[in-house]
Amino acid sequence: MDATYDLLVVNGIVATAADVGSYDIAIKDGKIVLLAPTGSLAGLATKKTIDAQGGYVMPGGVDAHVHLEEPALFGGKGTSADTFESGSRSAIAGGTTTIVAFAPQEKHEPSLLNALKQAQARASKAFYSDYSFHILVSTHGQQGLSEFPALREEGISSLKIYMTYEALQLRDSEILDILLAARTHGITTMVHAENGDVLNWMTNQLEANQLFAPKYHATSHPHLIESEATNRAIILSEIIDAPILIVHVSAPPAAKTIREAQTRGLPVYAETCPQYLFLTREDLDHPGFEGAKCVCSPPPRQKTDHDAIWNGLRNNTFTILSSDHCAFRYNDEERGKRSAISPEYPVGRFKYIPNGIPGVETRLPLVWNAGKLSPQKFVEVTSTNPARLYGLYPQKGALLPGVSDADLVIWYPSMSPFQLKNEMLHHNVDYTPYEGYTMTQWPRYTILRGQVVYDRDNGGVVGEKTYGKFVKRGSSSLPGPRSEGAWNVEAF
Ligand SMILES: *[C@@H]1O[C@H](CO)[C@@H](O)[C@H](O)[C@H]1NC(C)=O
Repeated sequence: MDATYDLLVVNGIVATAADVGSYDIAIKDGKIVLLAPTGSLAGLATKKTIDAQGGYVMPGGVDAHVHLEEPALFGGKGTSADTFESGSRSAIAGGTTTIVAFAPQEKHEPSLLNALKQAQARASKAFYSDYSFHILVSTHGQQGLSEFPALREEGISSLKIYMTYEALQLRDSEILDILLAARTHGITTMVHAENGDVLNWMTNQLEANQLFAPKYHATSHPHLIESEATNRAIILSEIIDAPILIVHVSAPPAAKTIREAQTRGLPVYAETCPQYLFLTREDLDHPGFEGAKCVCSPPPRQKTDHDAIWNGLRNNTFTILSSDHCAFRYNDEERGKRSAISPEYPVGRFKYIPNGIPGVETRLPLVWNAGKLSPQKFVEVTSTNPARLYGLYPQKGALLPGVSDADLVIWYPSMSPFQLKNEMLHHNVDYTPYEGYTMTQWPRYTILRGQVVYDRDNGGVVGEKTYGKFVKRGSSSLPGPRSEGAWNVEAF
């Protein structure tokens, strides 16, 4: 019977990137089918109703920067603490319904397509959320470049490159080759913008002075190496007129450079992460080796830098806010943070500390709790814009009747403040950098394609581990190259 819905979500304050209002939502066959003023759906036949009781209802989070199940690619010994299964479980418990993880190309592997196939094969065994992959390019080569059209056919429209890390760092000419092929095939290039040569040089200077503790990780990564590489990445993308996204921007001078490029009309996009809004370099300066828990790259900055990053989120400099979840266990001497310790170096050597922190579950609650973004802006940077930029919109990141998947996060109407503890989280990590933070909100329900997959008060994670689906992505729906047609060297 037509009038039967699978699920009604009533009495919520519905927030999208466009507006906020009191609506009821009707869901059928995994899709949003109707949005109507509160009360107007009462009495319709439905299999199930959720009363949001005045809490916010938003499109489910889209986290477009999540490292799961990756081998040691970065020189250190660390391997990811979280698998696709544990990372996606953690995601849904934090209101995120879609993850774009990485399919890493290993050094000896010339094919990008194989990297994708391998990641897909592993992911199909267990994924709580919906997902896609960015290809993580570690080697420049003709075979990889020739596979861009095939990647598009497989529903992949983004890849990531590095300007740092010995094992991954590309030369500028190699970056140009990738940008040119990416432009031709409608692929968005994500750039890790730090100057790897300067970073290594700084690291050697510190080590020559016997400075090994975790806090020197921050010293070795000054703002300047981020702003220099950001500027260079923008110039390389300007030469090709190819869209780029600068990942995990932490330094206000880099944000300023990005802003100026955007003001000139270049298709330059930027991402920041909660660690650059909440953590500081003092978090790396704890007795012994504890500071290693907050070692990530770029490192957390000064408290005084946070305001500029929040401002950049509010004023559109930052297109998206992702977690850059890249978790390593702390108490693991083989594959975790403590692999950087040896009898000779009791406080470790900062250069060997696996880089990265967990955050896929805490991303939405931390930023929503802070109360510094309007509901619309919050939805825009955590869900709608990542969906637009990476070709998932409007299937994801929106609540368009008949079009969007019924992916929702429903918050509490109000909550008694509580202290965040790692034991509350669903990742496979033995710490959170945000231990003891006071929280005043948390996702109450997470709904993926019409199914409740997280119900905080009744069973927690109730989704099935094989429910998540691979989502084929199209092109970015944000502005691309400014010029039409093929790139032409004679135009210079
Ligand atoms: C927007 O934010 C960026 C990043 O903090 C900053 O550099 C820029 O000056 C801001 N622009 C305006 C118009 O406020």
